[in-house]
Order: sequence, then C-alpha cells, then structure tokens
Amino acid sequence: MTNFADSIVLHEDEKEFVELKAIIKKKIGFNCDQYKQAHLKRRLAVRLRANQSGSYKEYMDILMRNEAELQKLKDTLTVNVTELFRNPETYEVFSKTVLPELVKSKGDDKTIKIWSAGCSNGEEPYSIAILVREFLGGLTKRYSISIIGTDIDEDSLKKAQNGIFQLKQLEKINKERLDKFFTRKDDGNFQISEDLRRLLKFRHHDMISGPRMFGFDVIFCRNVTIYFEQELQEKLYLNFYNALNKGGYFVMGKTETLVGPAGDLFEPVDVRERIYQKR
Ligand SMILES: C[S@@+](CC[C@H](N)C(=O)[O-])C[C@H]1O[C@@H](n2cnc3c(N)ncnc32)[C@H](O)[C@@H]1O
Repeated sequence: MTNFADSIVLHEDEKEFVELKAIIKKKIGFNCDQYKQAHLKRRLAVRLRANQSGSYKEYMDILMRNEAELQKLKDTLTVNVTELFRNPETYEVFSKTVLPELVKSKGDDKTIKIWSAGCSNGEEPYSIAILVREFLGGLTKRYSISIIGTDIDEDSLKKAQNGIFQLKQLEKINKERLDKFFTRKDDGNFQISEDLRRLLKFRHHDMISGPRMFGFDVIFCRNVTIYFEQELQEKLYLNFYNALNKGGYFVMGKTETLVGPAGDLFEPVDVRERIYQKR
C-alpha cells in the first residue's frame, strides 16, 4: 500500500534549494555546500516527505517555525549510523599490525595520541580504546594514552561521553570483552568502564571549517568523507596527513578512496582495510 507521504511529488527548485541551504547553515551550522549535492537532496527528501511537503519552499516555511523539525533535519543530515567494531576485519589488522608496529616505534616515548574524526556516538573510539588496552595490558599505565573523538553533532557527543549502550548494540562484543570493559547498570544497559573512559576525550570539531589538529600517531576517519565532494575529500586527506606524526597511520572507511595528492604521500599498509602510513 502506498501511503500519502510516498505519493507526494517533490518539486526540487534550484533557487529554493540554495535558499534552504543558507537557512540550514544559519540555523544548525551545517555547511551543506561541501557535501555531495545528490546525497544532500536525498536526505532532504526524507524530511520533506515526512512533513508531506512538496517543495523546498514549503519545507523552509515549516523549518522556520518548528524547532523540533530543525532537530530532526539535523539528525537526518548528520547520518550517525555506527557500531562498536564496525568492519571487525579492519580492527583486526589495526590490532595485529598497526599497534605492535606503533608501540615498537615509540621506544622510550610513551605517548600515544589517536584521533577518531567523525566519531558519532563514540563506538569507534571506544573500540580503539579496547584494542589499545588489550594490546598494552599491564603496561597501559606506563603510557600516556589520549584518544580523542570529535564530531559536529553535539547530541552524539553527549551520548559518546556517557558511553552507555543497550545490549543489542553490543552484538559484536564477545562475553570476555563485555565482562572486562563494561559495567552493567541497574536499567540493564551497559556502560564502558571508568578505567577505559579515562583514556578518551570528546570534543566538538568541524573537520571542514574547524581549527587544524596536529601530533597524532593514528587518525581514524571512517564513513564521513564519503558524503563530501571530491575536492573537499582531497583537502581533508592532506589535512589528516599533516596532522599525523611521521610514521603515523590513517584509517579510512572501507568504501572510501584516498583521492588526490595524499594518495602519493601515504604508504599503503593494508589497501583492503584502507589503512595507510605517513612516509
Ligand atoms: C556515519 S557516522 C560515522 C561514525 C564512525 N566513524 C563509523 O565509521 O562508524 C558519520 C559522522 O560524521 C559526522 N560528521 C559529518 N560531517 C562532519 C564534519 N564536517 N566534521 C566532523 N564530523 C562530521 C556526523 O555527525 C556523524 O556522526
């Protein structure tokens, strides 16, 4: 059965599209021009349909007088889909190849700095923290470990900060890790242990327009740049290259490609898992 919302024919007027993007930038600080325009239109269509709105103009009127819709639009645009140990095979290579090499190369320098850029609700940086903790074991205390998760979405960052997950979100976690790194709360949810949370910091940061960051041993930026225009992807990959220490590692999403000049600067470690090293 077709419902009413599905039957609405969207009128995508370009002038109205430009106006809507300006409103989105002003009201929710989301810089639409840097995202793939086809992707953006698909995401907007979701909200237009949900509001039974047939044009950008109609939708703009709704947006201007409805705070709740602003929030829903933001959620739709940011695409926060993630999970602990998303693509476990990538984490496997990270733990078996990257971590041993990284720790060996550190020698007496016991500082390890990792950045999860576009960290959503924290599942990615927490997965990284679990692996670092497992790898270093009892030596963890000898290291100064900092794992920073950044995102443009404040709501996601709040969730990340709490580190609380429902059991169904923990399907990829085996019992040993669950017992070791999580505490069961009274309401049946699980919280990442204090011991692990101490290794992490979460910060608001827009990778497109925010201040440049430096001094990392590893940067994860997965399933974020896929939504950006190629020119911006190329610029960001160079930024990540510059943000890494010499010999540092860059981990991308499995469907992303290292385009532009950074492609020649990085050394592939595992192309299938999209792991690269700064020469
Ligand atoms: C699909 S999630 C990816 C989460 C995680 N990296 C993973 O692979 O599972 C994309 C995240 O990127 C964030 N994001 C989008 N644009 C961003 C930007 N310009 N700067 C920082 N984060 C951004 C979104 O808010 C969202 O939380």
